Amino acid sequence: MRPTAQGGFDALLHALGALVNKDFNPIGKAIALQALRCCMQALPLVLSKPDNLAARTQMQLGAYLAGVAIGICKVDAVHAMCTPLEAVVDMAHAEVLAPVFRVVSRYTVQTHAGVYANTARQLNIAGTGNDYRDALALIERVEELARQANISLYLANLQLTEQQAGQLATQALQSASMSLNPRSLSYEEISSLYLQMVN
Ligand SMILES: [Fe+2]
Repeated sequence: MRPTAQGGFDALLHALGALVNKDFNPIGKAIALQALRCCMQALPLVLSKPDNLAARTQMQLGAYLAGVAIGICKVDAVHAMCTPLEAVVDMAHAEVLAPVFRVVSRYTVQTHAGVYANTARQLNIAGTGNDYRDALALIERVEELARQANISLYLANLQLTEQQAGQLATQALQSASMSLNPRSLSYEEISSLYLQMVN
């Protein structure tokens, strides 16, 4: 189940990152939305009923479409900040992604809730009309899926100095996806977000 859970959660964040980022390719965005719809519907099903072939088919389709979408649009700061961190922890990709998502997405929607809110409405996850509230509903749904997939939203037993956080930030800024994050993040902000993840 671990490959299913973690691969599924990774695919979901590929789809979401490609959908909300600042890339403007309309084909990529349409594919990303369909990928996210498939992943969010199928992931809980493949976790609760691993033998459900229809759910697994939908999960595979979602993962494939998410891959196509990131090939067109790239992703966002969640993946950009995940990669440097993976080099210093002995954890699987999805296990690093989830804590990064918890911190970075909540920071991003403080100023750029609209695109997350629109996504939440398109997927019928929220519809209060309040961008920040609807964006948070989407984030909380993704976090709930992480819990169902048995993926922690916290990095346990990791400590970072300010200098180490700065080194990670320097590496994260080299990712092509970093500049596409809905909220532009400076070196100082990225360093601070890394420190928030471990404290
Ligand atoms: Fe990934």
